[in-house]
Amino acid sequence: MADKIGVAILAAGLGKRMGVPTAKPLIPLMGQKLVDFPLVAAVNFCSDQSMDMKVGVVVGHQKEEVESYLKERHKNLSLDFPVQKEQKGTADALRAYFDSCPWAKDMDYTLVLCADTPLLTKTELNSLWKTLKDKNWNSIAATFRTKNPTGYGRIIQGDVGFKIVEEKDASDEERLVNEVNSGLYIFETNTILKNLLGVDSNNKSGEFYLTDVFQIGSEVGTICFDDESPFLGVNSPVQLSQALHQLKSRINEDHQNNGVLILERQHTYIEPTVQIAPGATIYPNCYLHGKTTIATGVEIEPGSIIKDSQIAEGVTIKAYSYLEEAKVAPMCQIGPYARLRPGTDLGEKCKIGNFVEVKKAKLDSSVSVSHLSYVGDAEIGENVNIGCGFITCNYDGEAKHKTVIGKNSFIGSDTQMIAPITIGESAFVASGSTINQDVPSEGFALSRSRQVTKENMASRFLKGKWSIKKK
Ligand code: UD1
Ligand code: CA
Repeated sequence: MADKIGVAILAAGLGKRMGVPTAKPLIPLMGQKLVDFPLVAAVNFCSDQSMDMKVGVVVGHQKEEVESYLKERHKNLSLDFPVQKEQKGTADALRAYFDSCPWAKDMDYTLVLCADTPLLTKTELNSLWKTLKDKNWNSIAATFRTKNPTGYGRIIQGDVGFKIVEEKDASDEERLVNEVNSGLYIFETNTILKNLLGVDSNNKSGEFYLTDVFQIGSEVGTICFDDESPFLGVNSPVQLSQALHQLKSRINEDHQNNGVLILERQHTYIEPTVQIAPGATIYPNCYLHGKTTIATGVEIEPGSIIKDSQIAEGVTIKAYSYLEEAKVAPMCQIGPYARLRPGTDLGEKCKIGNFVEVKKAKLDSSVSVSHLSYVGDAEIGENVNIGCGFITCNYDGEAKHKTVIGKNSFIGSDTQMIAPITIGESAFVASGSTINQDVPSEGFALSRSRQVTKENMASRFLKGKWSIKKK
């Protein structure tokens, strides 16, 4: 029968050292929150090991927010939310888990994770589990060696077993120890239930330390990792930026190994939810967010930001463009300095040039809007050319209205379409026109006053340095 494992994620603390009012588990990191990372690592580990798992996230500070965020984000998981009323330490948090999760005491094993270790993956958990089983211990802690042990609990090894001394309580000699506690443990449930009873708060912090369940002389052990990076604990803004730095490198290196040309790894931000096909090129200072997909042959020039968008093969996104919930078909050219807002749907080979904003608009293939225009709430047929400075006047102060332009039409520069309005196919709208009546297919529309030119009259108007010197 599969082992049953209960997962306790300790997430009740405020995280005072972060200095922000947001509870630490909800601090954003690469499109997720800190608490998501250990949760996902635990889920992946249990699936690797084919274990029956149940999860309790211990909440306290901003408990409603943490709970509603996790329920919304992980709809497929059944999560319990034991409440730790006062934050009296990590052992007290685990007691809250056992007291409130009805299933927790019946699990064969209990895995404990802290909410503030976002670099942890299933790999470390798999090693932890394997070592516990191989050595036949009843408890195991993941430890690591570090040049800078400040802030972490020090591991004091005995002939049998070990103990953990927190920074504040450590002697000068103990502080020199560079093997430290990662805050990640697996216990046989019966053992931890018994050992928790013995934990008191007689220490410098006056807290109930979970680390006190480990005692020299008992059947407990450590697995010491040489690479400290997966265990970085985020207690301060500096550590948050270190975590971001490492996550970025890890994600970008994976893409590079998969054939994506990322030219500058540390200055490219790609969230883990983004999918990129081999053969795409990404220049520095690009930000790719959320459910974005990038196909092969796409080039994204510096400074572009793309959120929740689908970019098809061979598209070029020139520098400093901003795309959000947009669909871009093969071989389009976007930017530089283009803005595609939600609901933009471009057909193949469209050209959206500089300072063009498109919103909730469907453009069929080979439409060009090359300069300084606003296209909102529109449907534009294939092969339409729109000149410079075009505007859909889509809003009357109350409602939005649609502009429809049939295929093969030519819309001159500096034209405005007062929606709702329909222009037929192969129509021609002359430059400088304000169009408020429909134009039929093959029709020509012009709406501007006739030009008046008076010879030699400029001198009446030109003053100062512009005045015309009579010879
Ligand atoms: C803890 C460990 C330390 C280890 C380090 C690794 C203890 C006593 N110390 O220290 O040995 O080296 O993690 O990163 O366990 N929490 C609660 N309720 C509380 C207190 C904390 O739920 O009453 C949660 C926090 O939200 C956090 C986690 O427990 O997610 C760890 O707490 P934190 O204050 O960050 O512990 P550290 O000082 O980092
Ligand atoms: Ca911590």
